[in-house]
Amino acid sequence: MTARLAVLASGRGTNLVAILDACARGALPATVVAVLSDRPASRALSIARARGICAETLDGQAYASRETYDAALGDRLDVIAPDLVVLAGFMRILTPALVERWLGRMVNIHPSLLPAYPGVRTHRRALADGATVHGASVHFVTPELDAGPVVMQVEVAVRPDDDEQALAARVLHAEHQLYPAALARIVSGQVAFRGGALYSGSVELAAPERIRIAEVA
Ligand code: GRF
Repeated sequence: MTARLAVLASGRGTNLVAILDACARGALPATVVAVLSDRPASRALSIARARGICAETLDGQAYASRETYDAALGDRLDVIAPDLVVLAGFMRILTPALVERWLGRMVNIHPSLLPAYPGVRTHRRALADGATVHGASVHFVTPELDAGPVVMQVEVAVRPDDDEQALAARVLHAEHQLYPAALARIVSGQVAFRGGALYSGSVELAAPERIRIAEVA
């Protein structure tokens, strides 16, 4: 069965491209049925349109509150009825009401090895701490920001001469391999989030899977 994905993105959409490419080459048994953005100028929307995928703006500026925005977004998602909602650089904090409705069916990618560095400026904070290993995580979305159970992580070594930009570029490259791989595990049923815990079949998973990728220059 091919899973139907709705991707929510605010910005440049490089993770969206990685997901679309993985679907096209058969590495991810899924179809992106819609791309939604809160920003009309989001490159993710033009990427979707160029590939003939339904692309819609729900402009964040047009709503008076998070609650009214998320009610409208929830209504759209109900109509689209995806199997999984995939956040790929969606720069809004979602209300608990929307998150609860999609609990176990909504995932996010975050540029750190969670639980380290939730929130913003993760690369800068990792460098300031002198971290030697950084990375990215794919997690199910729960009401608490960046705190949902992690499905899979990728490690990226921090180099002595790294600055924020260089580290961010290598982590982003790693994300492009991580997100399709983690989504494949979810849509194939290898990993599921039920009753507050992660399962592989009937076995509760204690720790997320971590992968290391070949370093890029
Ligand atoms: C990525 O760094 C992701 O981890 C974060 O937002 C960024 C999205 O980048 N949640 P892109 O729009 O996919 O290029």
